[in-house]
Amino acid sequence: MPRFILISALNHKRTIGKDGGIPWHLPNDFKHFKETTLNKTIVMGRKTFASLPSQKPLPKRNNVILSTTLFEAPGFVCCKSIDEIIELTKNDDDVYIIGGQNVYEAFLPIASQMVLTYVDNHLIGDVFFPMFEPTQWKRVHSTQYQIDDKHKYAYSIQTFNRI
Ligand SMILES: NC(=O)c1ccc[n+]([C@@H]2O[C@H](COP(=O)([O-])OP(=O)(O)OC[C@H]3O[C@@H](n4cnc5c(N)ncnc54)[C@H](OP(=O)(O)O)[C@@H]3O)[C@@H](O)[C@H]2O)c1
Repeated sequence: MPRFILISALNHKRTIGKDGGIPWHLPNDFKHFKETTLNKTIVMGRKTFASLPSQKPLPKRNNVILSTTLFEAPGFVCCKSIDEIIELTKNDDDVYIIGGQNVYEAFLPIASQMVLTYVDNHLIGDVFFPMFEPTQWKRVHSTQYQIDDKHKYAYSIQTFNRI
């Protein structure tokens, strides 16, 4: 089985999204997301797929959609269950779970790492990163980024490994 890694950006309210999108724009966090997931398998829920511009796959990654209702999308592999994804990725090393809420919840029990961008705002959204038990996770890395012309909010990128 590969290492399943949750990668997400959340704020102080655990908000990850609102009205089908992400309620902040942090270009350097997108860059970090791209660099981290490049050449890997990424797994997204059907609604996160729907939020992608023109529903196009993210380049240079094996794009997988988890859905019980969507069976085909050009450039994507569609899976109906977690078990199907485990079978599909059995020879991968790292598989990134890129959201949204439903998919993070589904993979949290079997994830071995989380790469979380903590965004310094209190916006209330309609989808949230799941609560996790802090005693089960060790923070192994944290880098702080400040507000600048292109980044309206400060943020920190933190990596947690399951203990
Ligand atoms: N801040 C971030 O890092 C981040 C990252 C990604 C997404 N987002 C935001 O999150 C929002 C979308 O998240 P969401 O929670 O509403 O939806 P989602 O998790 O992207 O998609 C939900 C759908 O995925 C399928 N699914 C989920 N778990 C499944 C399972 N165990 N087995 C089979 N299918 C499963 C179902 O599709 P069917 O109904 O077809 O069965 C379900 O309706 C958007 O606002 C997006 O912008 C934020």
